[in-house]
Amino acid sequence: MEDTLVLAIETSCDETAAAVVRNGRYVMSNIISTQIETHKKYGGVVPEIASRMHVQNINPIIQEALDVAKLGLDDIDVIGVTYGPGLVGALLVGVVEAKALAFVKQKPLVGVHHIEGHIAANYIEDPNLEPPFICLIVSGGHSHLVHVKDYGEYDIIGKTRDDAAGEAFDKVARTIGLGYPGGPKIDKLSKEGNRKAIEFPRANVKESPYDFSFSGVKSSVLNYVNECNMKGIEINKADVAASFQEAVVDVLVDNSIKLCKEKNTNILALAGGVAANQRLRHKMKEACEKEGIELKYPSMDLCTDNAAMIGSAAYFEYLKGTRHGWDLNAVPGLKLGQGK
Ligand code: KG4
Ligand code: ZN
Repeated sequence: MEDTLVLAIETSCDETAAAVVRNGRYVMSNIISTQIETHKKYGGVVPEIASRMHVQNINPIIQEALDVAKLGLDDIDVIGVTYGPGLVGALLVGVVEAKALAFVKQKPLVGVHHIEGHIAANYIEDPNLEPPFICLIVSGGHSHLVHVKDYGEYDIIGKTRDDAAGEAFDKVARTIGLGYPGGPKIDKLSKEGNRKAIEFPRANVKESPYDFSFSGVKSSVLNYVNECNMKGIEINKADVAASFQEAVVDVLVDNSIKLCKEKNTNILALAGGVAANQRLRHKMKEACEKEGIELKYPSMDLCTDNAAMIGSAAYFEYLKGTRHGWDLNAVPGLKLGQGK
């Protein structure tokens, strides 16, 4: 079979990214321009600034992705792009760019669900990985437990009822004055803290055993910090970080292992920005080893937002026959498995 080269574009949040991926598994280039330094000043992503920076950066980033892959646009077989979920103005920049390139070069256009991209990062990390498997997707906007039945075929078994796991990390980090983005900062600081110092709640959603809820633990941290402030007690940030992280990780590990056992699946994959968390990887690995489950997770730079993962997902969608027309639009609230 001939090689299929996908040029992929990702602009759903605050990273302008482009990549060239061969046959859905091999990364020829993966270029990311992060806007973190700009948004840091505001304590979070400012949508209008994100859109404007995407407009400014997108062409040079695509050019760089082609240059590193030593290819021209004519060599590309498919244009892949994230069209949701995400910030509408940010998504639109990538979608319009992808459509323009596909239109001018008359190449097939494949729109990708951002979370499908996160899952596909595992196909790059392990070129032999094939469905079915269970995937825990934990990012700034999502916490999903998904049964990946086949390429592009998903059953969402559990999701968050309120905050996403990454959102909880970011909010707690802000509460204890660590700044944005909070996940990596809590990850680092928690290494110096005592995980058992404070008992934060591990929430279970009664009627849905695989759903998550992180607003309780987040409020609990807020209450703890307020109480300490009122009493004039200085908080130990490392202890708060480590205890909070442990509460979140425990729930993520428990639910994932429970689902693997129920579905009789011996492969569990992690995906999304929070999958970069060291403690989550460690505890999940321990639990998987105990249960005879094979654990997969993408390397750090494939966990957080990037375009290579979008290129992989676009390839498998392309193989399944997915093609989008010139009416492709950004869908900020796109659901997984919708809109094929
Ligand atoms: O997947 P991602 O880059 O963007 C979204 O699609 O949301 O995830 C970003 C999220 C942020 O909330 C960030 O704080 C979190 O992932 N994150 C982490 C770590 N690295 C990134 N959370 C915990 N530990 C980390 N090491
Ligand atoms: Zn993401």
